[in-house]
Amino acid sequence: MAILDILIYPDPRLHEVAAPVDTVDDNIRKLVDDMAETMYAAPGIGLAAAQVNERKRIIVVDISESKDSLKIFINPQIISAEGSEESEEGCLSVPDIYAPVSRAEKIRVRALDRNGDSFELDADGLLAVCIQHEIDHLDGKVFVDYLSRLKQDRIRKKLSKFQRQSA
Ligand code: NI
Repeated sequence: MAILDILIYPDPRLHEVAAPVDTVDDNIRKLVDDMAETMYAAPGIGLAAAQVNERKRIIVVDISESKDSLKIFINPQIISAEGSEESEEGCLSVPDIYAPVSRAEKIRVRALDRNGDSFELDADGLLAVCIQHEIDHLDGKVFVDYLSRLKQDRIRKKLSKFQRQSA
C-alpha cells in the first residue's frame, strides 16, 4: 500500500468530473487500498479518488472513532434523499478551513463494493454528510464552492500562502 499525494484547493484538477469505473479489478482494489491508507494517515474521515488525482468514481469513508469501519463506494449514486441539515464541514484538500454547508439529512446510496457487487446503504447524520461531500468531489465540486464569493476568495488567498510556505 502507499500514501498518495492529496491535491490542495484551489488546484484546478479538483474541479474535473470523474468517470465511472467499468470493471472492479485488482488495479481498482489497489487504488482503494491506497486511498484508505492515505485517508487514515491524513487523518480524515473520507476521501475521493479525485483528491489523489485519479478521475475515477471511487470514495472511501470511515467515520468511526476506532477507524475500523471502512466503507468503500465505487460508482456511488444517491438514489433518494430527504430533509436538510446544516453542519460544519472540512476537507483534506482544504486544510484548516471549516464552514457550514447544507446537505440532505438522510440518503440512500447505491454503489459497487470492492468485489464489484452492487449494494445499497441508508445513511444519516455525519455518515450522510460525508458521503454527499465525497460524491461532490467526483463531480468536480469542493465544499468551498457552496460558500459566498467573498469567503471563497479569502480561502483561496489563505491556502495559496499556505502552499508557498510549505513549498
Ligand atoms: Ni473533501
